[in-house]
Amino acid sequence: MDTVVTNGIIVTSTETYEADIGVKDGKIAALGRGMQGAETLDAQGNYVIPGGIDIHTHFELPFMGTVAADDFETGSIAAACGGTTTFIDFAIQGEGESLHQALETWMERAKKAAIDYGLHVAIGDMTDEVMNVEMAEMVEQGITSFKVFMAYKGTFMVDDETLFKSLIKARELGALIMVHAENGDVLNYLINKHVAEGKKEPIWHARSHPPEAEAEAAGRAIILAGLAGAPIYIVHLSAAQALEKVKEARDKGQPVFAETCPQYLFFNIGHYELPLFEGAKYVMSPPLRDRGNEKSLWQGLVSGDLQVVATDHCPFNFVGQKDMGRDDFSKIPNGMPGVETRVPLIYHFGVNEGRFSVNRFVELVSTNPARIFGLAPQKGTISIGADADLVIFDPEKAVRLSVENLHMNVDHSPYDHITVRGYPILTMQRGKIIVKDGEFVGEVGAGQFLTRRRIEI
Ligand code: URP
Ligand code: ZN
Ligand code: ZN
Repeated sequence: MDTVVTNGIIVTSTETYEADIGVKDGKIAALGRGMQGAETLDAQGNYVIPGGIDIHTHFELPFMGTVAADDFETGSIAAACGGTTTFIDFAIQGEGESLHQALETWMERAKKAAIDYGLHVAIGDMTDEVMNVEMAEMVEQGITSFKVFMAYKGTFMVDDETLFKSLIKARELGALIMVHAENGDVLNYLINKHVAEGKKEPIWHARSHPPEAEAEAAGRAIILAGLAGAPIYIVHLSAAQALEKVKEARDKGQPVFAETCPQYLFFNIGHYELPLFEGAKYVMSPPLRDRGNEKSLWQGLVSGDLQVVATDHCPFNFVGQKDMGRDDFSKIPNGMPGVETRVPLIYHFGVNEGRFSVNRFVELVSTNPARIFGLAPQKGTISIGADADLVIFDPEKAVRLSVENLHMNVDHSPYDHITVRGYPILTMQRGKIIVKDGEFVGEVGAGQFLTRRRIEI
């Protein structure tokens, strides 16, 4: 073996057991005892989990007159420090652009990635060429998921015809359509109305994005997916009413998948009324919801109606970016950081607080994302033949999630007040140590582009 990881407790989505892990040529080559390796890594009784997989990031996203503060280098390093070894970002097709052009732009940006990555392609201009030629070419290249924005009128939003055509084609190709489910026309009307009435504080962002608009769009997307006979995946689900739509469809056996994100589990609409414009830090779409929604989302993670926790990592600095909207909430760039804090937050509040098992934690942050997005069995588990993307996770290590302790390229941490117990102490990608004792020791640009399989449902 090249490396043997000894004395760890291996945790997968289904098992917890003590064994050593033999790594050869970047892959897991053996599980058991008594292996010889050129190098030995003592896990000292800590958990060894498969590297986290965050299928929803926006590194270097040009958005609302600025650009997300983490690029592929800083964002992927931060991800690795937080126990994530794979991410999937979005190449977004602009009007008049081909999918190939969009992909080329994002592939160039992603060259700096320090961990492995894939790309979804967001369809912004559904031409005949896109539908009849390019979507198939994307799938051939290992891009097996497409995103459709039902919101952001005037920029990313597309109409129902585009959504429906995407679903029809995806079914034929074995691809997965992901939707940002909010009714963009309703939001647009409410945003303009509130601004015109002089209601410009951050709380009006939430009041312009009611949960009904999310539930309506989720329900509509689910119905259109059913009509097309295609599976569907709802990103950043925030509202209990939208979760009800997912649950209803799943109970009938429809292949509907959904993720939530940590921000919707830990914060609520009250955060928009923090003094000194602090509420701007939490302006994102969908917005934070009334108290009580968090409870429904946790319940969805427990029951299985929600299968994935991703981040929607899209950070903007408070000074110089969020404050672009100091006088008008509609100018506050939407999004918040999270790629580094996802794994420890879900462990602490999921496992330590007794909501679910350590196996379910692994399933939500690694195994299910790999399965749903065509990365299994190479990623998302600890089994022979899988990539040796391993995280040694100390269940007792306490870390305050303050800016000083984190690596994301942003001037604040929304989780500053939280100290989690349980934290990654070593991250390995394809057998190579890339983070040790909180410091990145890998290589910028060493991340590999992952071609993904078609969805199997
Ligand atoms: O506010 C958000 N979510 N910003 C990122 C773009 C998106 O909608 O995913
Ligand atoms: Zn979105
Ligand atoms: Zn997003």
